[in-house]
Amino acid sequence: MSDAPKKLYIKTYGCQMNVYDSERMAEALGGQGYEQVDSPEGADMILLNTCHIREKAAEKVYSELGRYKGLKAANPDLKIGVAGCVAQAEGAEIMRRQPMVDLVVGPQSYHRLPEMEAKTQQGEKALDTDFPEELKFDHLPKGRKAKRGPTAFLTVQEGCDKFCAFCVVPYTRGAEVSRPVSRVLREAEGLVEQGVREITLLGQNVNAYHGQEGGEDWGLARLIRRLAEIDGLDRIRFTTSHPNDMEDDLIAAHGDCEKLMPYLHLPVQSGSDRILKRMNRGHTAEEYLRLIERIRAARPDILMSGDFIVGFPEETEEDFQATMDLVEAVNYGQCFSFKYSARPGTPAAERPLVDQAAADNRLQRLQALLTTQQRAAQDAMVGREVGVLFEKAGRLPGQMVGKSDHLHAVHVQCDVPVGTLARVRITESGPNSLGGTLLG
Ligand code: SAH
Ligand code: SF4
Ligand code: F3S
Repeated sequence: MSDAPKKLYIKTYGCQMNVYDSERMAEALGGQGYEQVDSPEGADMILLNTCHIREKAAEKVYSELGRYKGLKAANPDLKIGVAGCVAQAEGAEIMRRQPMVDLVVGPQSYHRLPEMEAKTQQGEKALDTDFPEELKFDHLPKGRKAKRGPTAFLTVQEGCDKFCAFCVVPYTRGAEVSRPVSRVLREAEGLVEQGVREITLLGQNVNAYHGQEGGEDWGLARLIRRLAEIDGLDRIRFTTSHPNDMEDDLIAAHGDCEKLMPYLHLPVQSGSDRILKRMNRGHTAEEYLRLIERIRAARPDILMSGDFIVGFPEETEEDFQATMDLVEAVNYGQCFSFKYSARPGTPAAERPLVDQAAADNRLQRLQALLTTQQRAAQDAMVGREVGVLFEKAGRLPGQMVGKSDHLHAVHVQCDVPVGTLARVRITESGPNSLGGTLLG
């Protein structure tokens, strides 16, 4: 056997948590002699880190697997694995439907990947979709990649106890679990040593974070204030939050913690109280609007972001109009909207679908309104001075691209190294990004 590193190709779908998990899986397999590559051709192992949130997302997995048939035929030693939320939801069914799959691992058990990989090398199939007592985070190799870009994700909380009637996450990710404060701090310090200047704290309900530290219970605001003390860490963000966990000290942090960026993703899903109730969201439209007033009182220039579902069972035109009214009232800077997709095992999946042509039409109208708001928020940045953290070279020669404090992509003609945090004057607003000039 040669000592050349084996090639690992990981394709990631779904949310940022999967991006974080893919990095951890690559590290876990690094110990088995795998090195990550950018293409499935010639790989020794292909891992799909999957998403189950909507039907389309889940089906993509099978079409992608179909494409690997030729690769598997050419190289019978190629191992194919499915990880993430489809793995959790469908388990062994994946191997039945697609027999060339060698390994299926759920999002809470991927620290066991090394043993699973060894099993596949013996020609066996490996399946693990447990929610083990031990936390995966505590079992992963400590060393992360030596060099990395200026931004990183850091998972601090995982799982969800909210059980919105449409959502698979409580089933695929399990109950809410928070990582202890000291581990989060150690990981953040390690990232900063590797050159990271911006950390986005991740959790399915990140603002429900309750980490333990010396017998005390820390909420997300306290964690953020402590992280802000790390020298060299310039920016902190967090996502995704639930309105009911938006506590006073977290709102206050948006006003007084300079490193906490003025952007907040706070999904509401619908503007109709009747639908919110049927979704089991636990709040009304009015309560959400009041909450946003309080957040804006603390940080007037905060950019609000959200998620909406249209065509939820029983949604009428009147309910939809209430959603449009709420969107008008909030004025989002960024927003995501989806047509309802019935997910097996969730309570709403038992209910009859609304007319699909009506749902498509509502989605179009909502997206048109959200696009207008998004563009207006971007255009309003022209003339302003913003901070930009440069992440990579732009498409034009001599150009760099980075993100503003408000998370807008900004192109600047300049010659600064990746990882530079600079003041920029915004001079133009294009369809998907801003342009500006370097100050100072
Ligand atoms: N944890 C996050 C959401 C995770 S899923 C939160 O609580 O906000 C991301 C988004 O996908 C949700 O906010 C919702 O808008 C959408 N989504 C979830 N389940 C869906 C379904 N069954 N059909 C359509 N959209 C869905
Ligand atoms: Fe899903 Fe609701 Fe939990 Fe978000 S809060 S992950 S939408 S169940
Ligand atoms: Fe998808 Fe799982 Fe994230 S279902 S959105 S990958 S938590």
